[in-house]
Amino acid sequence: MAKGSIFVCQACGGVHSKWQGKCDACGEWNTLVEETAGPPLGGKSSGKGGPTRGGGKLDFVDLGGVSETAPRRVSNIGEFDRVTGGGIVPGSAILIGGDPGIGKSTLLIQVTARLAATGTTCAYISGEEAVEQVRLRASRLGIASAPVSLASATNVRDILSALENGKGPDVVVIDSIQTMYLDALDSAPGTVAQVRACAQELIRAAKRIGFALLIVGHVTKEGTIAGPRVLEHMVDTVLYFEGERGHQFRILRAVKNRFGPTDEIGVFEMTDGGLSEVPNPSAIFLAERRDDVSGAAVFAGMEGTRPVLVEIQALVAPCPAGSPRRAVVGWDSSRLAMVIAVLEARCGLTIGAQDVYLNVAGGLRITEPAADLAVAAALVSAYTQVPVPSDSVVFGEIGLAGEVRQVSQTDARLKEALRLGFEKAFIPARKSAGGSKGKGADGPSIQEIDRLVELVA
Ligand code: TYD
Ligand code: MG
Repeated sequence: MAKGSIFVCQACGGVHSKWQGKCDACGEWNTLVEETAGPPLGGKSSGKGGPTRGGGKLDFVDLGGVSETAPRRVSNIGEFDRVTGGGIVPGSAILIGGDPGIGKSTLLIQVTARLAATGTTCAYISGEEAVEQVRLRASRLGIASAPVSLASATNVRDILSALENGKGPDVVVIDSIQTMYLDALDSAPGTVAQVRACAQELIRAAKRIGFALLIVGHVTKEGTIAGPRVLEHMVDTVLYFEGERGHQFRILRAVKNRFGPTDEIGVFEMTDGGLSEVPNPSAIFLAERRDDVSGAAVFAGMEGTRPVLVEIQALVAPCPAGSPRRAVVGWDSSRLAMVIAVLEARCGLTIGAQDVYLNVAGGLRITEPAADLAVAAALVSAYTQVPVPSDSVVFGEIGLAGEVRQVSQTDARLKEALRLGFEKAFIPARKSAGGSKGKGADGPSIQEIDRLVELVA
């Protein structure tokens, strides 16, 4: 071991003084890689506590002072703009993470082309593809004539000196951070040390010069490439581009945003001509729904500020022997276990000993507890072989005592359901005195459910 070596976990960035099989910080195995501990980038402030010797003077300003902020860069791709919180903020750094091949490069070349069309100057720097390959892709996408500056480079020093010369671009795309390297470091491109240092340099340049920085980061579950997780706290906005393989839908999800809401999603469809927007995802997620099939329920969910209707499908099958199987796609398996337990303990359904399969149609991932009641409805329907009425939507959270709890944004959910032609809604009992049973003035006919048993009856 060379003097000054450290061992960095490629999954979480944890630093160890000697090699070991398992990272103490995140528990992953075989993820430690030896790196030379170079001088810290960006100059560390003096050690622990105490006043800094010879530190510079800080100028404080009033919080309420007038600031001149450049307008956000709007791409006019509605799904992208909503997820970024209304456009890209100049000087901000945005990380776009996702599995390799999910469509990050395609999305960003399309976004830069649209931005360029509105007068924003864009530079697309690819470390993965040669200029010709990017051109080829652009011409296939029908955007070859867009005035985007293209470069193929991996040396961050070269990139920075190009950006600092004269009037640089307003928006810079780095595709991907795993291919970039700083020659000051010994580690190979893609290691945590390189990824972190390159990002730090690029982000500092973005803040100083004022361009918006879009960084592509590949995520792999195996941790063979340094996960962009180490970057999440360095950037202003983290977007994840996800989708099930074999489905053409892609979902762009904001998981962190200093300049806008999180939980917002943008839905795209991967076609031969690139990614196209899906402004009305509910209609698409429900497009292949069959009426009057048992084991399916339509959930009226919220994704950020937007209601999205999806079909939840369940299958309950006898388990011949041994422990019953549970397979869940698009939902949380521990929440499924809870719903099954409540159905068994409070409603007397003997589902627990059977195999249970649950699927959220269309490849969407639901994280809301409001889906509990829809999952329960699908399970009960699968178990009893009685279809849930096909013109109804379901939502509500389930408590361990078998009670159905209220969820947020009931009105927005009901409005979307009505818009898509649903006439009934099974929702939690509302506390307001008098209740509003029966047909609302401008909503579906409502059936309030106070306890889960009422759903089974
Ligand atoms: P890409 O943007 O290269 O993914 P990433 O940058 O996230 O690694 O997307 C590659 C996939 O997208 C590839 O499997 C082919 C598919 N694709 C289409 O289906 N249609 C298209 O028009 C394009 C450009 C790509
Ligand atoms: Mg790519």
